Amino acid sequence: MRAQYRTAGLAEEDLAADPYEQFARWFADAVASGLHEPNAMVVSTADAEGRPSSRTVLLKAFDARGFVFFTNYGSRKGLEIAANPYVSVLFPWHPIARQIIVAGRAKRVAAEETAAYFRSRPRGSQLGALASDQSTVVASRAEIDAAYARLAARYPEGTEIPVPTEWGGIRVVPERLEFWQGREHRLHDRLRYVRDGEGWRIERLCP
Ligand SMILES: Cc1cc2nc3c(=O)[nH]c(=O)nc-3n(C[C@H](O)[C@H](O)[C@H](O)COP(=O)(O)O)c2cc1C
Repeated sequence: MRAQYRTAGLAEEDLAADPYEQFARWFADAVASGLHEPNAMVVSTADAEGRPSSRTVLLKAFDARGFVFFTNYGSRKGLEIAANPYVSVLFPWHPIARQIIVAGRAKRVAAEETAAYFRSRPRGSQLGALASDQSTVVASRAEIDAAYARLAARYPEGTEIPVPTEWGGIRVVPERLEFWQGREHRLHDRLRYVRDGEGWRIERLCP
């Protein structure tokens, strides 16, 4: 399958006019290939001094408004985004020799969008999000398990678990999206959509 993609390559005339459609096509290919967690993406942020940090999160929605993941706003990434909204998102689809890199600005999704997603999660995940002050130092695993148990007792089956105040969606609104296709002799295809007024400009990059 990897060889197939390498042979086919990525040509300008095959690209969708808009990057969201192009992303949708490649995402469908990634899903069809059976590669593990195609919606896993590496989000890189930088603090106010420009020091970078990266971590994997799961893409939960995408459309013409951008790419959405859910997290704790008080986490390291959450705080860095609050100080500096510029982020990089990378989809590492190694088994099909593809990579997509999105550069853009992160912003919080509406509270209703967060609540709707939170309610769609299994109860255990809802309680887990509430129990964990993500990215803060904790004395032991036992302390985390105890926090979970306290919340599970407080919100028994049938009661509504409140959406944690510091938890929610982040939408990455893209400014540039690069589609990378591995080819023979390291002559890979790299095509990039760059925001240009209301539309997009497409440029080819040397591999
Ligand atoms: C496959 C995978 C998926 C993950 N998905 C999420 C996610 O959707 N949201 C999230 O906050 N953390 C997710 N994590 C955990 C993050 O990588 C990270 O540990 C956490 O968000 C804290 O990051 P920070 O301290 O840099 O803010 C995931 C980790 C892996 C390996």
